[in-house]
Amino acid sequence: TEIIIVDNEAKAGEIYARCVADLIARKPDAVLGLATGSSPLTAYKALAATVKAEHIDVSHVRGFALDEYAGLDPAHPESYRSTITRTVVEPLGLTPELVHVPNGNLDTIMDAGCEYDAAIEAAGGVDVQILGIGTDGHIGFNEPGSSLASGTRIKTLTQQTREDNARFFDGDISQVPTHCITQGIGTIMKARHLILLAFGENKAEAIAQTVEGGISALWPASALQLHPHATVIVDDAAASRLR
Ligand code: F6R
Repeated sequence: TEIIIVDNEAKAGEIYARCVADLIARKPDAVLGLATGSSPLTAYKALAATVKAEHIDVSHVRGFALDEYAGLDPAHPESYRSTITRTVVEPLGLTPELVHVPNGNLDTIMDAGCEYDAAIEAAGGVDVQILGIGTDGHIGFNEPGSSLASGTRIKTLTQQTREDNARFFDGDISQVPTHCITQGIGTIMKARHLILLAFGENKAEAIAQTVEGGISALWPASALQLHPHATVIVDDAAASRLR
């Protein structure tokens, strides 16, 4: 795993933006793996600025998001479909039809995971997957105990994750969905390049376990140690428990 310690989130965002801009120059229909949450926001802003400044044609760029709530209307402002539209598709000017988010519709969710993995495969796989990490080491919604070989599937959200995400639902945990559909660790590991971003002291333990701990389902992101091209970009606080 390649570790890059940066002074601040803006520097991390610049590294991501340069990497993706160069990728699109080589491959105009590049496949981006997208994440929600706060960690990638600066990186998306940096990429949007680079796309604008360098007049990069992104009209053929494709995207696959990591996860979605189950049973939440995609039109809900806090659905990951809406979030990806607001934070990635619109600021970058991507073609909306080329950006996919797992389908959390409860009527079809049992088949949606396999179909999503097949769609990623049919697109030729993900070129660069951006990742955040939970304080418990989750990536996507793969909470501790998730199979390191898992594909996209329905999962139950932990009480902790529902509490953490209540802030997006008027602070009311009863409004937070109980289930989700998420790319599995096995799905994520198929991406050709992983870029994991983590900032702040509350991510320090998860980063130490991810990079230097044993490979274990108890710290799902530790699977990255087996990936041939994984880049972990952290600030000093998130790096503070590395040896
Ligand atoms: C996002 C996702 C999650 C987040 C993680 C960290 O699609 O699946 O794994 O990356 O919960 O969230 P932040 O970045 O808000 O700390």
